[in-house]
Amino acid sequence: MRPSARRHRTGRPVATASNVLDRVVTHAGRVLEAARAGEIDEIVALESRPDMQAYVASWSRERHLRNLADPNWRYLVLRRPAGTIEGFAILSDILSAHRWLNLERIIMEHHGSGLGSDVVRGVVDAVFAQAEAHRLQLDVYEDNTRARRTYEAAGFVEEGVLRDAVWRGDRYVSLVVMSVLSSDRVAAQRR
Ligand SMILES: CC(C)(COP(=O)(O)OP(=O)(O)OC[C@H]1O[C@@H](n2cnc3c(N)ncnc32)[C@H](O)[C@@H]1OP(=O)(O)O)[C@@H](O)C(=O)NCCC(=O)NCCS
Repeated sequence: MRPSARRHRTGRPVATASNVLDRVVTHAGRVLEAARAGEIDEIVALESRPDMQAYVASWSRERHLRNLADPNWRYLVLRRPAGTIEGFAILSDILSAHRWLNLERIIMEHHGSGLGSDVVRGVVDAVFAQAEAHRLQLDVYEDNTRARRTYEAAGFVEEGVLRDAVWRGDRYVSLVVMSVLSSDRVAAQRR
């Protein structure tokens, strides 16, 4: 599962293995696996659900399929025993020479039961363990207090606000930029 030993010209290791981040096991034992192209319709349906519009942007089926085919992106899905999708996380820049990855999106079908916290923590741990990340970044709508709380609990630190960054149908909303660094995690372990 670990990336190959290929190194950036600066000497930093670069993740190259195609299987990096294709399987994540959370603290509670939930398993997220790489999505299949046939699951994109379910992903689109979940993210474009009317009640999600206040929390996340939505992309077209074509854009998701393009991302899925790109080795620099990873779509991780949490499947129910019946095979349908209960939630998903999307990562980009997984092959970054700067070891700077982005958590593009995370959506759970049902909210408030602790599922999202477990999944976010599992994904963050895997990003640092499997992709040897230095930095994991995301942005979140300023008024999405539940997601901000979830990210903060998983170790993300707020870095700043992109004011009025997104038009949400009737008004602009600001984006809060959050990140977690490998050094943050080392410091947290020492505390
Ligand atoms: C964000 C999301 C992944 C969190 O998952 P979840 O299972 O709902 O969250 P949890 O039940 O694990 O709760 C996470 C934290 O939020 C808090 N929380 C729950 N509901 C809340 C609410 N309505 N307002 C504020 N905080 C809330 C919980 O108390 C918990 O904090 P704690 O650890 O301090 O107790 C999920 O709600 C979701 O998919 N939301 C819609 C899409 C979205 O917003 N995605 C993120 C932006 S990309």
